[in-house]
Amino acid sequence: MERISVGISGLGSYVPEKVLTNFDLSQMVDTSNEWIVERTGIEQRRIADKSQAASDLATEAALKALEDGKTKAEDIDLIIVATATPDHAFPATACLVQKNIGATKAAAFDMSVGCSGFIYAVITGANFIYTGIYKKVLVIGSDVLSRLVNWDDRNTCVLFGDGAGAVILEQCEDGFGILANELGSDGSKGDVLIVPAGGSRLPSSIETVDSKQHAIQMDGKEVFKFAVRIMEKSATDVLEKAGLNLEELDFLVPHQANIRIIDAALKKLKLDRDKACVNLDKYGNMSAASIPVALDEAVKDGRIQKGDNLIMVAFGAGLTWGAIVLKWSREEMND
Ligand code: UT7
Repeated sequence: MERISVGISGLGSYVPEKVLTNFDLSQMVDTSNEWIVERTGIEQRRIADKSQAASDLATEAALKALEDGKTKAEDIDLIIVATATPDHAFPATACLVQKNIGATKAAAFDMSVGCSGFIYAVITGANFIYTGIYKKVLVIGSDVLSRLVNWDDRNTCVLFGDGAGAVILEQCEDGFGILANELGSDGSKGDVLIVPAGGSRLPSSIETVDSKQHAIQMDGKEVFKFAVRIMEKSATDVLEKAGLNLEELDFLVPHQANIRIIDAALKKLKLDRDKACVNLDKYGNMSAASIPVALDEAVKDGRIQKGDNLIMVAFGAGLTWGAIVLKWSREEMND
């Protein structure tokens, strides 16, 4: 059966104002600007104000996406928020955004897929459109990982930052939009990237707080090896599914965790660094927000144009991964 094409009709992003530099971190833990830049590529990151939670960042990004897509909030059918840092255990962050933007007819739910969350949420949202259930889906990646960081742990605290990115999905011109996708998980490796406490396994207690079990615990080397392997594999697999060859690929919009992981994927895809939408130097790893923020910047600064083929590819806690090949479907009005 011939299926409709689904693309992005509006996009927006938001990062908090406060900047935390590598120098600032070197005053907090035993680290240096040189080590962080050389081992990760990160120079600074944004930190949410105490008054801001994931729904606040998500709302800012969503409002920009609505404006960009000339879409009324009342016309949104579904809101999906990908986040590892919801405002509360419940209600869902997506419901808070629904209220904030006035999307009165929208259904709303969250997805917990760590840093792969945006890719999972886009594919989920697109399927509601393919099946004819909904017409306009607002997908947001929003994370405030600064709230889950152990600020005494130099292995993790230098990596993460806060932000949100949003897209509106709807039917687009035939042959454009999402061309192929791939999602995957390996739950047997769940413990290499985990926040142990705060859920039903280890509810909050004085002991869990004292032993810092509400903070991110990570085996960086294991995640690194997995990330390099899975970025290369899922990017090449999804390109093949889309029926494209390497020469037809224009941009890589990768999850922004470490420049060395991105460089490995670029090498495999035979792409130059300028074909990767990279912003981790400015923002660090913003988890589910990293891809939509990078995409928004690359579209707004005129790099991505109608007809360009891009791969968005992510990996994260779970362990999980996901990749999408997208043929950009909008005519951009750049100077
Ligand atoms: O979205 C997914 C989230 N996570 C990731 O993507 C993380 C993936 N992993 C990585 O990006 C890298 O593994 C890290 C950046 C986390 C670490 O880089 P690495 O090259 O794998 O370093 P390492 O863990 O092997 O550590 C090398 C040394 C160690 O010292 P010794 O044991 O050799 O004396 C660490 O203690 O560097 C030390 N180190 C640091 N030194 C200064 C670790 N973190 C720091 C730091 N500053 N911040």
